[in-house]
Amino acid sequence: MRTLALAATMLAGALAVPAQAQTVRPDLQLGSEVQTFGRVSFDGRSLMIDGERKVIWSAEVHAFRLPSPDLWRDILQKMKATGFNTVAFYFDWGFHSPAPGVYDFTGIRDIDRLLTVAEEEGLYVMTRAGPYVNAELTRGGYPGYLVNQRVRARTDDPAYLASVDEWLTRVNAIIAKHQINNGGNVILHQIENELALTTPAQRRYMDHLYARAKADGITVPIFHNDQGRNGYWVPEGSGVPKVVDGPQDMYAFDAYPGGTCTVGGEPTRGSAAPDWGYYGVGGAKGGASASPNTPGFAAEFGGGWFDYWGSNGGYECNAVQRGRRYQRVFYGTNLANGIGIQSFYMGYGGTSWGWLPAPVVFTSYDYGAAIAETREVRDKALELKQLGGLIAAVPAMAGMIPAAPVEKSTDQVQVYHNRSPETDTRFMLVTQNPSNNSGDHSFTVTADLPDGRYTMPLRLHGFDAKWLVAGADVAGQRLVWSSSELQYGFIQDDAALMLMYGRKGEEGRTLLRYTSAPTVTVLDGDVRHSFDAAKGDLQLDYTHGGLARVRIEGGGRPAMTLLIADEEEGWRFWKDGDVLVRGPQLLRSAELKGGRLALTGDTATASPLEIWAPRAARSVTWNGTRVRLAAGQGGSRVATAELAGPRDFGLPALDDWRVAAGSPEIAPDFDDSGWQAIDRRAYASTTARPDGEPNMLMDAYGFHEGDVWYRGRFTGTPDAERIRLYYGAGGSGMVQVFLDGQLVGQDDLPWGLPRPITTGTANFDLPDAARQPGEHVIAVMVRNNGHNWDLDADDFHKEARGLVSVSVEPKGGRSFAIPLSWKIQGRQGGEDIVDPVRGVPNNGGLYGERQGWHLPGFDDRRWQRQAAPATDIEPGTTWYRTNFDLAVPEGQDATIGVQFGDPSVPRSEGEYRVLVFVNGWHMGQFIAHVGPQRTFPIPEGILNHRGGNTLALAVTSDGEPGNTLEPVRLVTMRNVRGGLKVDAVEAPETLAAD
Ligand code: GAL
Repeated sequence: MRTLALAATMLAGALAVPAQAQTVRPDLQLGSEVQTFGRVSFDGRSLMIDGERKVIWSAEVHAFRLPSPDLWRDILQKMKATGFNTVAFYFDWGFHSPAPGVYDFTGIRDIDRLLTVAEEEGLYVMTRAGPYVNAELTRGGYPGYLVNQRVRARTDDPAYLASVDEWLTRVNAIIAKHQINNGGNVILHQIENELALTTPAQRRYMDHLYARAKADGITVPIFHNDQGRNGYWVPEGSGVPKVVDGPQDMYAFDAYPGGTCTVGGEPTRGSAAPDWGYYGVGGAKGGASASPNTPGFAAEFGGGWFDYWGSNGGYECNAVQRGRRYQRVFYGTNLANGIGIQSFYMGYGGTSWGWLPAPVVFTSYDYGAAIAETREVRDKALELKQLGGLIAAVPAMAGMIPAAPVEKSTDQVQVYHNRSPETDTRFMLVTQNPSNNSGDHSFTVTADLPDGRYTMPLRLHGFDAKWLVAGADVAGQRLVWSSSELQYGFIQDDAALMLMYGRKGEEGRTLLRYTSAPTVTVLDGDVRHSFDAAKGDLQLDYTHGGLARVRIEGGGRPAMTLLIADEEEGWRFWKDGDVLVRGPQLLRSAELKGGRLALTGDTATASPLEIWAPRAARSVTWNGTRVRLAAGQGGSRVATAELAGPRDFGLPALDDWRVAAGSPEIAPDFDDSGWQAIDRRAYASTTARPDGEPNMLMDAYGFHEGDVWYRGRFTGTPDAERIRLYYGAGGSGMVQVFLDGQLVGQDDLPWGLPRPITTGTANFDLPDAARQPGEHVIAVMVRNNGHNWDLDADDFHKEARGLVSVSVEPKGGRSFAIPLSWKIQGRQGGEDIVDPVRGVPNNGGLYGERQGWHLPGFDDRRWQRQAAPATDIEPGTTWYRTNFDLAVPEGQDATIGVQFGDPSVPRSEGEYRVLVFVNGWHMGQFIAHVGPQRTFPIPEGILNHRGGNTLALAVTSDGEPGNTLEPVRLVTMRNVRGGLKVDAVEAPETLAAD
């Protein structure tokens, strides 16, 4: 659709028609009835809170991907500081529920605490509680036991709904309490996710979810997240043909447009920003609104992308590809199109620790998000801070509609021109034409603005967008127009403080309106000014570079300090309330109490500190320490000494290991008397198995996560020539097969694909031993690297895991199988988990896990001592344990990672796998020959930064030369002075005694 429109525009350009303005779609319906849900209401133009229109500027965070609750606040403070007013949370049902009827909302699963922290940090919340969430989670967030349900998920089948209700009543009760209508901060609530099939059973299911939420006390507007802007689950009565109605109050969709990172790790700009609203053309599936009575709402819009097993390491590329400039272009185009509710996925991706990940992803879920997995605030977040700052400074940005087209001196750019029907304030988004172009254009835009007709000289250099406002009342001033962008504008005491910025080296012009000539004092920088007495316009001209400061007094308005920065200088500014700070890496909070202004934040290096604070702030502290201040220019105050940066600190070498063999199950005389026998219980998987076979699937026996062992006995016969296995193991999963204690073979599922292969077959010739008389034991370990998601609502999460079928048989076309009797063992306790504190994702069924070898309190003194990993290794799993002390200086926040092998290459030559346990927490999986992740950041709280730690590694190999653990080291991935106090996450040190 867009391409056609563009082609038409380009053709028009070629015929030398004056530059085109953006065309507004002809069927545009503006305004609609206000629908009210307590303090939250909306019409077709925007969301309102307490009747005030708001742009909802949000990003997604998954608390379950950061198992250190004290750090939730760190992330939320960083979001607030970088300009977000809202956070969106998915909740993962399976994370809370190991068994039917068993739920846990404590510790790392404490949703009540999470919502309280969000509230304390002043963020609105969108809750997305499933039951299905996708999110690159194993089973898309479904609990393990749900794969045993023999009815179709995501329909109105009573058995499925009964399970769903168990979860929803519990999670909804917590959410309901935190709604804005009950004194909390939850403003919107999502039921279901990307349900694109719309059968009658699914409609009834949706009706059920809606009714459930209502019955559970959800009073804020309820929405669904449509996979792309297809018009699924639009509130009834929209009047739009072709859309699918639902019970929902609002319509929302998700989208990830704008190019990709190529396999080589290079960003591409594959498409222009789509016009999914006011400026689109076509029907519900094209550009026009699918839901004109509800405001434009992107429940997820690409804020990065996930990376997969076997990639070359795409997260840094994703951070760039969906980073600076992309955000301005794409998020700005959305806003211009009336999409005033936007939530970027992810704001902080975190870690898919333990067995959380679906087969499509490895441990790191960094996502290239604004806040990195290490909790580093990326450059792209600093750009978001500038955009969020504008949105906060100009409330009229909410609910804007298209204004009259502007005139431009070139068709190389496009200008979206919007206005607020209430205030007539303008928003002009200037992009390349098409928006994914680059090129350096200096041009003029002429427009009838609220304060008159103006010709504005502008420049757009490269793939970029300018977010310009005009005719705006900001902090008691009148901004007529500016070619600079507004970062902050607010009143402090009785004067205005405004920060504007532009690209370094570009000319800028700002016009402000007064009733008479004001007094202009240029305190710093080269700013020329003139006053047009006829219009009352003060014109300021300058070149963006460093920081210029201008004081403007008189002219019939309160005084103003105007700061004009280049873009990067603007990044150094932070605002909290009516306090402006310049210099440190992060300002977390500014709190004025009894004449004392307490600032908290982080420094990455020794940093200057300049503050603009209310007069009442007679003294200032930074992270609790008094700061000596001198007067700065134009009312600021400057610290007389730099704020200290972090101290370097050393990390211990890991050179004292204890080692033990970890696959005793392979021995013929291993005692498996406590294991479950494989039988013919009901089969619920979507994977077909040979007729008449028993049910071998791990899930059927209550083992849903990680590794599972099978032992099969048969009587030796000359026909026992080979073994054939059909198994399910998730992305980059694997199977190891042993006969009487000897490795027969290992089969790895193919890797290196964005869409992983998740089941496999393996054939191995059996050694002579199998043909000797007497009893033989086949021992098989299957590593389940996650259940599939249920993206297409086809029960894909029920694909088989573990063994599907095995036959020991003769070769050469004679087809009969030798009888085998099988037993199975997985995670200790199965669904009755033995470590409910670390919870569902932490453990699978390795022998060492069943014995508590991963736990810090395990006594490994009898194990063999080694300074470094051995160069040879036995087939199967070998455990390595070591203890180390850390001494991160007090008052510093660091991210420390565990690293394997050579960090300059994504993959090792040696083929082996490691489960990484830190203080008993399973914090990642390293697959040496698959990659790309070699460094596993461990959050403080799991890692003890000031004291002792235990690292336990379960290394699985086929024992071939070279397939052995490479050097392991600790690395500092980030280090700042500041941060928050982080307590250890209390968890058992040893297995509970039976
Ligand atoms: C969306 C989905 C999310 C997540 C995302 C990709 O389509 O709603 O749950 O899977 O894609 O990261």
